[in-house]
Amino acid sequence: MSIALLYERSENDENGIKLTAQQLGIELTFLPFRKIALAISKDGFSAKTKGKDYTNAINDTAVVLNRAQSKNRRLQASYIMEMLGKKTLNSSQIEFVCYSKLRTLLHLWKAGIPIPKTVFVPCDAVDLMKSGREIHNEKDIADLFQQEISLDEGIVIKADAGTHGKMIMLSKNQEELIANIKRTKPSIINPIGVVAQELIQKWFYDLRIIVSKEKGKQPECYPISMVRAGFKDFRTNTFLGNLVFDAKLPLSVQELAVKCGKILAQDGEAWIFALDAMVNVKENKTVDDDYLKTQLDQASQEFNNVQKVKQDETRLTEFAAWNGKLEEAFQTYQNSKPYVNIKSIIEENLEKNKAALVFHEANSCPEFWENTRLATGLNMAIPLLKGAQSLIDH
Ligand SMILES: Nc1ncnc2c1ncn2[C@@H]1O[C@H](COP(=O)(O)OP(=O)(O)OP(=O)(O)O)[C@@H](O)[C@H]1O
Ligand SMILES: [Mg+2]
Repeated sequence: MSIALLYERSENDENGIKLTAQQLGIELTFLPFRKIALAISKDGFSAKTKGKDYTNAINDTAVVLNRAQSKNRRLQASYIMEMLGKKTLNSSQIEFVCYSKLRTLLHLWKAGIPIPKTVFVPCDAVDLMKSGREIHNEKDIADLFQQEISLDEGIVIKADAGTHGKMIMLSKNQEELIANIKRTKPSIINPIGVVAQELIQKWFYDLRIIVSKEKGKQPECYPISMVRAGFKDFRTNTFLGNLVFDAKLPLSVQELAVKCGKILAQDGEAWIFALDAMVNVKENKTVDDDYLKTQLDQASQEFNNVQKVKQDETRLTEFAAWNGKLEEAFQTYQNSKPYVNIKSIIEENLEKNKAALVFHEANSCPEFWENTRLATGLNMAIPLLKGAQSLIDH
């Protein structure tokens, strides 16, 4: 019985998992999920692409590592595989919770984990009647939000199932708030209603914390967090031009993160999450913003080389060699003066403000090869593969 890597397209993370499996001597089966037709009938099931029959491969699989990128496909994939008798990492139960930021927050809130104040209105911005008439609810939704969150502080509207900062909008006055609510059309990343959140006054950085569990072992928090930082946008997503750093986590934060993992996984035997957290720094800044901006600009210069390697197309054909170049470029960035300086500013600020940390999202299938792994030193493929193995061995 083996471990199968279920994926949509083979990209850096999947190639990274393959490379790591080779290094660890773990055999992997590959399931190109998007291309496989699953048939169920009185004769059992079959799973075939146009050219290849995967039925036996699935029969011989004990554990499925689910790396489908779209949240919908990932949820469906875990559910199907569980119905076929497989263990999954992560389980469909976990995928269901993480799919929705609101569901994630409900679980965390119920367990007393600090979260940003969040308001959900199940009504859509516009109702389309059978007659074709449109009913506009934007103003009412805005009023409901304003009853709970002050616009002076800022209101963040977010797509419940979005990723990469998509459809995350900040409003500072009522006009902006109504305009932003208008933009929240029901879609695959925002199935129903509108989610709003208080703006966390987070200075220039936020955290991505890795927690994982192998069957038969205690859950663990990796003590070094990935940090996304910059003043480019209030969203710190890297593809908006922000930078990555690493920071040692205070023990209390590690413990809280483990608690989040346990809550979100419920009774899960093996799991992994990348938790997104923000620190409500407010006025408790530890250095001057102008100085910090010059340091970030310098770090950004240093980061250019890493960006260049990332765009290098040889990653598609000579992955291992390209990866060597990537690691070298990142090491140079990480050793640069502005990096070391900003990292220590973050660590000091985090230590001072650790009680002001809030968790706002759990990623059940995070990208890791290009940023998280290099910044933190944790190759997430290892806990993924070990988690899968633990489900077979026990
Ligand atoms: N309530 C908030 N207050 C302040 N900033 C926020 C808030 N919510 C989100 N952000 C910013 O926007 C970024 C993206 O938010 P979030 O993680 O919820 O969305 P996402 O699209 O799922 O991103 P990811 O790429 O991490 O999956 C966060 O990293 C954070 O910097
Ligand atoms: Mg996020």
